[in-house]
Parts: sequence; structure tokens; C-alpha cells
Amino acid sequence: MKETVEIAKEVLKNNRRSGYTLPTNNKLYPAQWNWDSAFIALGYSYFNIDYAIKELETLITGQWDDGMIPHILFHDNDESYFPNHKTWECGNKIPSSGITQPPIIATIVKKIVDKNKLNQGQMKRMEIIIKKLKKYLDWFFNYRDTNKIGLVSIIHPWESGLDNSPIWDSPLDKVKIEENLKYERRDLNVSKSENRPLKKDYDAYITLLNQFKKDKYNPSKIVNESMFNVIDIGFNSIVIRATKDLIEVGKRFNLNFSDLENKIALSEESLIKFYKEEEQSFFSYDFKNHNLIKVDAISNYFILFADLGNKEINNKIISKLKKYNSQREYFFTTVNPKDKTFEETRYWRGPVWINSNWIIYQGLINKDKNFSELLKNKTLELLENKNFHEYYNFKNGDCLGANNFSWSAALYLDLKFN
Ligand code: DGY
Repeated sequence: MKETVEIAKEVLKNNRRSGYTLPTNNKLYPAQWNWDSAFIALGYSYFNIDYAIKELETLITGQWDDGMIPHILFHDNDESYFPNHKTWECGNKIPSSGITQPPIIATIVKKIVDKNKLNQGQMKRMEIIIKKLKKYLDWFFNYRDTNKIGLVSIIHPWESGLDNSPIWDSPLDKVKIEENLKYERRDLNVSKSENRPLKKDYDAYITLLNQFKKDKYNPSKIVNESMFNVIDIGFNSIVIRATKDLIEVGKRFNLNFSDLENKIALSEESLIKFYKEEEQSFFSYDFKNHNLIKVDAISNYFILFADLGNKEINNKIISKLKKYNSQREYFFTTVNPKDKTFEETRYWRGPVWINSNWIIYQGLINKDKNFSELLKNKTLELLENKNFHEYYNFKNGDCLGANNFSWSAALYLDLKFN
């Protein structure tokens, strides 16, 4: 029987196209996704550093002039995915979507630089990437922090990467669906409908997309006009960590990004206000409709990844996290099974996702070594028993969504060799 490590490498190599890697080899996602690619690059760094750097370079080639890196790059004319390049109708150098995704790439770049002895040529390539990432993070603070509080908004659920998380339910309910909206979903041709977002979710996703397209994706305009605008805890935790990591890795290249330090101070000060003592939890904020969104979702715990200096709050979050899933099961579910919105097998409303576990693991390492080890071992055990799928049932590890899933394979390699 083949070692799981070898299978992981094969999954990545088989999903690789010219200079970038598909999230999976079936027809569900036939393009390059922003945060998938970052995780994938980390996986490659364990056996082919040039593939790792190339993956990042290809993603950055699609950066817009204003600094945004899109959530999808459509490298070929494949039309089996919806919404494809013909629907979005935008892009710079490479046809793309007109929204972004969590900038986990900065954290991944720091990890790759820290862990590998790069030669001069590779260092030079990394330096170019890092300078472009500075522009990317500046874009968030310039265009998405409209109140200048150091916290950024997402204006579409797809930007979160957690497409149909129940965190978006109440803000999405207020989106006025376009009249006579017409579109044809393709995801249901290759994935079971009981595991995928609902029609009402897609109606809102496409209504928002059409609104942004009408505004020609003007970043100042769409952030103000979007019917969906959420200050999300998970997303902002990733932005803060990305900002910290970019400053640090910049120093290795004598790049001075100290202007970002003020942003971090402000972000942390603002973020802490979203901690609610009664529930011992952080909650995302519906900026458009002025509501706190009280769903117990795993992305609220990404706050540990942000590395806030408040030990007391960190400890409370960790003790709550220990009760989130009982330890016999596979964890972490994307939503607490006791939350009324929990759905065992539906996409981001319940199943276990490997990247969520990885993010939480990174957040726990320097705060609770034993718990972080438990999480790592449980995640490795799941992957070794079931191999590399998109998401998993928390009760029995049953495989859900796509198979041969790239980031599950890539993050297996990182967890295994760390
Ligand atoms: C999808 O199509 O499900 C993607 O997650 C959107 O980015």
C-alpha cells in the first residue's frame, strides 16, 4: 500500500496544470483559486520548491492594477464552471473574478521562506512576490476599511472562502434578489445537491455579482453599494496575521513595511470590541444592517490565528473551543453541532474542513501545545484513514464533496513534516 505522503504528492502533481494547480481534478473547480493556491504552494514546498514559487507567481500575475488579487483566475476558456470568465467579464492579464479571498498567501510565503534554504534566484523571485503582496494588503486597508478602524469588510460570501456559512444567512436575507434573474448552475452536475449551497444562496451570490459588474468592479463604489457588507472575524483574523507575517518576512529582504504596524495596532484595538463576554466568543458584524451575527462557527475561533496579545481572552476562547466538539469525533465541524444552523453534510454549514483545522492549529501552537498536538494528530488520522477529500462528516469521517482535493493533500504534508 502506498504511503499517504506519496499519495498526497500525487494528488498535487495530477492536479497541476501549466504553472498552477486545480483545487481538484474533477469538473467542480476548473480554474485557479486564490487561497487554494496558497495552501497548495505550501504543500509543494515539501518536495518541489520551484513548483511552490511558480504557483504563487502565477496567482500574482492576475493581480489587478489597484492591488487586488482575485479569488479566481480563469486560465483557459473552460466553461464547465459557473460563473466562469464569460459571466464575470473582468481581469487584468488573466480573466478573473472581480472579488478577492482571504490573503492567507502572506502567511504561507513567510512559512516557505522560513523553512527552506532558497538559492539566490529563488530569493529574487520571492522578493518580487512579497512586494506585490504589500500592494495586496494595502488594497484591503485602502478600499475595504471604509471607516478606517483597521478592520476590513467582505462584500460577497465567496470572498470569505466559507461560501454558505450560516454567518451569512441574516445579511443575505436582506439582499434584494434581482428581478428575472437567470443563470445555470454547473456545480450540481458534479456534486450532490444535499452537500452544496441552496438555490436561495446562489440567487443572492449572482445578484451581488451582477451589481458589481454593473459598477465595473470600481472598488470604492462596490464597497459602498454592495447589499452585503460584513466585518467577519475569520477574515479579519487572517488579514491581521497576514499583515504581521508580511512585515516579518519583508525584513528578511530588507523591505521596510513598518507603515503596516500602525494598522495592526488599530485592527487589534477594534477587533477586541467584537468579543462578547457572555458567550465567551467573538462574533462577526453585519456592517450593512448593523447587527452582530451570533452563530457559533469555527471561523470565529480563527481569532487565535491573529495572535492577539490578550492572554486572558485567548484562554477563554481556547476553553470554549475544547467543548465545541467532543473528542471522540472528528473535529472541528465548521459550525457547532449544537447551533441551530448546523447541517451535518452541507458544505460550510457543518462538515470538517482541513484548512479550518490547519488555521486553528497554527493559532494554538504558541498558546496550548497539548491541544494543538491533539488537533494535529486527529487531522492526520482523518487524512490517513480517508485520504484527500474536500470535506468530511464529523461522525464517521465519510468523504464529502470532491475527491483528490489539493489543499487537503498540501496541508497534510505541512502537518506531517512540522
Ligand atoms: C464555488 O463555486 O463553490 C466556489 O467556492 C466559489 O468560489
